[in-house]
Amino acid sequence: MAKKLFIKTYGCQMNVYDSARMADLLGAIGYAPSEEPDGADLVILNTCHIREKAAEKVYSELGRLRRAKDEKARGGGRMLVAVAGCVAQAEGDEMLRRAPLVDMVVGPQAYHRLPEMIARIERGAGRALETDFPPEDKFDALPQESAAQAGPSAFLTVQEGCDKFCTFCVVPYTRGAEFARPVAQVMAEARRLVAAGARELTLLGQNVNAYRGLDEAGETVTLAGLIRRLSDIPGLARLRYTTSHPRDMSADLIAAHRDVATLMPYLHLPVQAGSDRVLAAMNRQHTGDDYRRLIERIRDARPDIALSGDFIVGFPGETDKDFEATLALVREVNYAQAFSFKYSRRPGTPAAAVPGQVPEPEKKARLAALQDLLRAQQEAFNRATLGRALDVLIEREGRHPGQKIGRTPYLQPVHVRAPDAAIGDILRLRIEGVEPNSLKGALEGAAPVPA
Ligand code: SAH
Ligand code: SF4
Ligand code: F3S
Repeated sequence: MAKKLFIKTYGCQMNVYDSARMADLLGAIGYAPSEEPDGADLVILNTCHIREKAAEKVYSELGRLRRAKDEKARGGGRMLVAVAGCVAQAEGDEMLRRAPLVDMVVGPQAYHRLPEMIARIERGAGRALETDFPPEDKFDALPQESAAQAGPSAFLTVQEGCDKFCTFCVVPYTRGAEFARPVAQVMAEARRLVAAGARELTLLGQNVNAYRGLDEAGETVTLAGLIRRLSDIPGLARLRYTTSHPRDMSADLIAAHRDVATLMPYLHLPVQAGSDRVLAAMNRQHTGDDYRRLIERIRDARPDIALSGDFIVGFPGETDKDFEATLALVREVNYAQAFSFKYSRRPGTPAAAVPGQVPEPEKKARLAALQDLLRAQQEAFNRATLGRALDVLIEREGRHPGQKIGRTPYLQPVHVRAPDAAIGDILRLRIEGVEPNSLKGALEGAAPVPA
């Protein structure tokens, strides 16, 4: 009988991708995915270290797992608990000390070693820690992704790590140096995903637009070059990529937004803050005006592009005036969607040690003001699609009979009554309603949906 595997994923899309690959890897040695931890033979927490809250969640989840593990032991079984991802990388040793129920700690660049770690433990060796950045390529060591993982919209990690060292951020430490997968490897995986039913691929990387991969001829290929090659794959209808750094938003990538029809008009391009003083202290290596000019060039190339971003409020030393500069920039750029966070002090990062930490109530007030503005912009963006006909990739069934849920080119979720449509279809829908978190669409020519 198959062993039961439960994986819980925190953090970014790269962790989602990694979790799917861990499931593939462990599937090959007899583990079948399970929906809940109870009774599982192996539980993996694939963790995120980006903010304090994210990291804390792991310890509270471990508290809850205690019972499930004891229960399994009472029944004569053994539940192995592995902590993977960025908390594992950052706090592995401490975690083994603090949480006796953890059997394995494995970093994001070493999870291909899980089967070997499990075997060691089963042979009676003690708890296992693998947080080196191994010299071998994890992607070479992983089995092919299973067809089951490929929904109509699939993730494909093409780049990992970060060399930017923004002073607030743990990623360069948890994910290591920038690394690009070779072009042939990416193309092969993309073809397999499309053959398994993917219509849309989202290329992932902590700094995906810094991608510089080698092709078969040993030539360096940029993200734009990779996108152009991928766009030739028959059956692949949509391409996206995330996350990008403004500094790597090169002219050829901007041109791809103009030229490549499958490249969707949506761009997540975090700026973090509007004040040049704060941007410098963050080591972002761009000013507010650099970012404005960049947005202008991108909009020249692709006028309807929907912009998304990340923001941090309350970075050490941020004054009211600095924060006003963030609001001003947001007003000028006008985002379709965005994420915003209170600065969270991360041990080991340069910003954690500087004086001038902003008091919590101030951070809270700034976040509320920024989120009000971003929400209003998102609503306006969504309202502007009312009455328009948009192509929607159907991704899954809705809650009501005959209802389907898909996404527009601008990544907005759409609900539609389309009993005959199949998952993976791209339907031309008339947008008839705007809800707080989604749009309501109707098949062109169908009777209007009553409100
Ligand atoms: N590589 C991406 C970001 C990865 S982290 C980029 O450079 O844009 C995702 C977001 O989390 C960041 O963009 C930032 O807005 C936020 N973030 C990172 N570290 C943070 C911290 N210490 N406190 C609060 N937010 C943080
Ligand atoms: Fe973190 Fe900055 Fe690298 Fe993004 S670019 S992952 S925010 S260090
Ligand atoms: Fe979190 Fe690591 Fe992703 S810290 S955001 S899981 S790269």
